[in-house]
Amino acid sequence: MGIRKVFIVGSGLMGSGIAQVCAQAGIEVILYDIDREALDRALKNIEWSVNKFIEKGKVKEDRATIIGRIRTVSDFSEAGGVDLLIEAVFEDLELKREVFQRADEAAGPETLIASNTSAISITELASVTNRSDKVLGLHFFSPVPMMQAVEVIKGLATTDETAIRGKDFVLQIGKEPIMVNRDVAGFVINRINFPSTMEAMRLVEQGIASVEDIDKGLRLASGRKMGIFETGDMVGLDITYGAMMAMYQETGDPRWYPPMILRRKVKAGQLGRKTGRGWYEYNEDGARKDS
Ligand SMILES: NC(=O)c1ccc[n+]([C@@H]2O[C@H](COP(=O)([O-])OP(=O)(O)OC[C@H]3O[C@@H](n4cnc5c(N)ncnc54)[C@H](O)[C@@H]3O)[C@@H](O)[C@H]2O)c1
Repeated sequence: MGIRKVFIVGSGLMGSGIAQVCAQAGIEVILYDIDREALDRALKNIEWSVNKFIEKGKVKEDRATIIGRIRTVSDFSEAGGVDLLIEAVFEDLELKREVFQRADEAAGPETLIASNTSAISITELASVTNRSDKVLGLHFFSPVPMMQAVEVIKGLATTDETAIRGKDFVLQIGKEPIMVNRDVAGFVINRINFPSTMEAMRLVEQGIASVEDIDKGLRLASGRKMGIFETGDMVGLDITYGAMMAMYQETGDPRWYPPMILRRKVKAGQLGRKTGRGWYEYNEDGARKDS
């Protein structure tokens, strides 16, 4: 039996995307956030994105049916009775530990609890619950409705059965599971991508090449749809910073320490599209100022 009902904690970029793909797959979604405005924004973004899928003929159901599967709530107690709870709050260990404790208390004993963390240890998050066997990582990529891969990550105590249920859920929502057998810092995809992301930032920091030229080069020479900095602005510089810091703190390996230019930009509040300025600048309507 597949997943029928899911509770998502955090309705930002990732939580809203996950809610959308679940609803499009026929799953009932309860979307929770501490910020009411974030929930309203999430619903608007989901409606816009679902419309795009319908226009392109990629989704057969009508918008009202899909959106009707999503209920926004400001109360954690509604997590009882769901098959799967997915945490997608800010990349902050203390916050996630708190959310995992509350999730464990609120959800039924059979509910799987997953984190969408980019780099925080699943084992550590599982340790604050009384069900570490049923805790796993489900690492989606941004933008969630478009990106097909989802890493399914086992913590030390995650059972094979939980990992298989995670994998089946990914297939159920029409995505492709990438199985990660141990929750090493950064899992697999970020561990491969971050070294080049950091090198690109250092090249900019040292004045060797511009943000624009590096992105252009990567698009034209490496066949990427988006350059590193374009992707970085969409993801959020704070999210990338949080993930690199988590990897650094977990391993003590200086190669994961975020480059200075990234640390400075995060301190300055230049977080990417969401603040109107990151590696590039954006107008009110979200369009790039230089395009
Ligand atoms: N942005 C990406 O491309 C990306 C990719 C993969 C994984 N992730 C991971 O997904 C997670 C979320 O990232 P995001 O980009 O969606 O962040 P975001 O900043 O867009 O959204 C985070 C949301 O969490 C909410 N929140 C904060 N504390 C909360 C709490 N206690 N209870 C409920 N909601 C709370 C905030 O109000 C906000 O709406 C992070 O762990 C991040 O590392 C992000």
